Amino acid sequence: MNKLRQAIEEQGVIVSDQILKVDTFLNHTVDPLLMEQIGKDFAEHFKNRGITKVITIESGGIAPALMCAHAMRLPLVFAKKAVPSTMNDPISTTLHSFTKNRDYTLCMERSAVHPDDVLLFVDDFLANGEALKGICRLAGQAGARVEGAAICIEKAWQPGHQAAEELGMDLFVLASIVSMSRENGIVWAKEEAE
Ligand code: G4P
Repeated sequence: MNKLRQAIEEQGVIVSDQILKVDTFLNHTVDPLLMEQIGKDFAEHFKNRGITKVITIESGGIAPALMCAHAMRLPLVFAKKAVPSTMNDPISTTLHSFTKNRDYTLCMERSAVHPDDVLLFVDDFLANGEALKGICRLAGQAGARVEGAAICIEKAWQPGHQAAEELGMDLFVLASIVSMSRENGIVWAKEEAE
C-alpha cells in the first residue's frame, strides 16, 4: 500500500459515501514528506514524456503539484479562481464546482503557457472532472497540450475518470477509491504498482 493510501487509512475521515476529508495531511494541514513522495511518484510515472510544465488550480492542487514540479525540475503554473488586477492578458474559462454548487472563473496569464508547452495536470482530487476539463480548455486557448493527469485521490464512481479517458489523457492515480462508506470504510482499486 503506497504512503498516500496509508495516510488516508490512518487519518482520512469518511464524511459520507461521497466526501472524504483529508485536511490533516493534504489540503489544509499539509504533510511535506508525504507531498515529497507523491511528487516523486508522479515524476517517475511521467518521466520521458516530454513534459515541459506542471499545471494545477489553486488551492488544493498546489502542494502536490509543486513537489512534482520540483522532482521533475520543471516550472509550476497554477490557474487562479479570480482575475487579479495585476494580470496583463488573462485567458479564462468558467467551471462548475459540484461540491460547492457554484460557478467560478478559472484564469491565467496568457504568457504563462506557450503553444509548444506539454503540460502535466496535477490535482488533489479527481471527482467530476470539471477542473481537468477547465485546464484543458485553458491550455487549448494558449495553444498548448495537456499530456497527462497526475491525481492524488480519485473517486472512481464519479465522472472524472471517464472524462480523462475521453480526453485521451494518461491518467495516473495514487489512491483510487472504488467506493466508501462510514460503516465499511474504503474499497480501493488495484494499485498501479501491484
Ligand atoms: P473536480 O475536482 O473533479 O472538478 O470535481 P468537483 O467539481 O466535484 O470538485 C470541486 C472541489 O471539491 C474541488 O476543490 C475538489 O478538490 C473538491 N473535492 C471533490 N471531492 C472531494 C472530497 O471527497 N473531499 C474533499 N475534501 N474535497 C473534494 P476546489 O473547489 O478546487 O477547492 P480547493 O482546492 O480550493 O479546496
